[in-house]
Amino acid sequence: TSVLSVASEVFPLIKTGGLADVAGALPLALAEHGIAVRTLMPGYPDVLKCVGRGELVCRFADLFGGKAQILAVRHGALDLLILDAPHLFDRPGGPYVTPAGYDHPDNWARFAALSKAGAAVAQGAIAGFSPDIVHAHDWQAALAPVYLAVSNKPRPRTIVTIHNLAFQGNFPSSIFADLGLPATTWSIEGVEYYGNVGYLKGGLHAADVVTTVSPTYAEEILTPEGGMGLDGLLRGIDDRLVGIVNGIDVGVWDPQTDPAIAKTYSARSPKARSHNKRALEGEFGLRRDDGPIFAVVSRLTWQKGLDLVADACDDLVERGIRLVVVGSGDQMIEGQFLAAHARHPDRVGVRIGYDEALSHRVQAGADAILIPSRFEPCGLTQLYGLRYGCVPVVTKVGGLADTVVDANYAATSAGVATGIIFAPPSVPALIEAVERARRLYEDGKPWRDMQICAMNTDVSWRASARLYADLYRDLLKE
Ligand code: ADP
Ligand code: GLC
Repeated sequence: TSVLSVASEVFPLIKTGGLADVAGALPLALAEHGIAVRTLMPGYPDVLKCVGRGELVCRFADLFGGKAQILAVRHGALDLLILDAPHLFDRPGGPYVTPAGYDHPDNWARFAALSKAGAAVAQGAIAGFSPDIVHAHDWQAALAPVYLAVSNKPRPRTIVTIHNLAFQGNFPSSIFADLGLPATTWSIEGVEYYGNVGYLKGGLHAADVVTTVSPTYAEEILTPEGGMGLDGLLRGIDDRLVGIVNGIDVGVWDPQTDPAIAKTYSARSPKARSHNKRALEGEFGLRRDDGPIFAVVSRLTWQKGLDLVADACDDLVERGIRLVVVGSGDQMIEGQFLAAHARHPDRVGVRIGYDEALSHRVQAGADAILIPSRFEPCGLTQLYGLRYGCVPVVTKVGGLADTVVDANYAATSAGVATGIIFAPPSVPALIEAVERARRLYEDGKPWRDMQICAMNTDVSWRASARLYADLYRDLLKE
């Protein structure tokens, strides 16, 4: 089976969040099931710099206002197709935003181009390559199945994966004429969405199958509270909607070999973690004491509930808790954490910014990772936490609820607890959860048992890659 994956970010080349991790790791896991994945992604400057010269495999005389080409290149185990379109992607800033942090004004064209190129490749634009399946990730790739659905050439089967329904790619109707879609797609069955053009919305209609990144999220998005306006549409297609939980790349995230951490360790030698904890205290200038360190590694946004942690900060400090925060996002939340650090310099350590290596050191050195999300399609940081024995303290939503086993009495007695789950996402519930974690920590043995159980949890892609593989094969049988 041969798959064309289309994604706007792919680890280790470019990453703003979990999508990149998934797009970078799933192809490797699928290879073990005999599924060959080629990944089409934009040629941002950092990506072109990183991969060097590729093989020119396809040209477009005019792709949304300029010449474009596709370069085939291998990067590690990834088989990449880089969409080199300088007029769309050769510019400073992030994949989606300008250096000042605003959306690129032509994002509609940039990602329609990615999708259109994906559809072209799916229908033979690259000699010798004809994928059986097109797997499009998030709104940035979601028009690919739309372009395929309206073409009258033979087409592969299509999948859209929703990583986060909060990002839908909605644009004013004025762009419709430039998408090169037939007028019939300006409809409820097509890309029209409350008078705008909805990229994800169109993709959900056009795709043969829609997946999301955890089973619980697949249910939550069918409700008005979780559906972000698309719940009606999603209820209409729930016979072709599947939730498959993400895994992580256990080669990149391995405390036994991680070059980024002070001392490597395993579930058999969890005590060696204490070196990493000392190192973390040193790095953040935290006072040394016997208590646990709670950590945050995240986008600092409302989705992630980090305003709650900021609001709870003084209270937690008064209870003797130490906190480490690594993240960026909302200026208001960033400011709150910086102010908390100024008030409690040796108890609240803060790094505003994005730092991959530091995120490994935090997972290896902190005792618990706090993830108080208001909604969470899957979440990867709790999986890194499990793998590193950094006990996840999470809200009962989406993939968090699917991947953490709460340390209630029954689970603790049975020796299967791996973290703390709380609800609702509120300051009092958060404080209570932290207190519950701290009591287990102070008791000693229950905490160590939980840590070891967490580290022994299989968070790899193995089980989920099989589900994707089965899904692909079922699609081809239909
Ligand atoms: P989302 O994609 O919604 O942000 P996930 O939990 O799926 O949430 O993925 C977030 C990814 O980004 C994880 O790999 C996490 O470690 C990483 N990450 C988030 N913020 C930072 C940061 N400030 N520095 C380093 N890594 C970060
Ligand atoms: C999105 C979601 C996150 C998920 C990630 C990868 O960014 O917010 O929950 O883990 O995609 O699927």
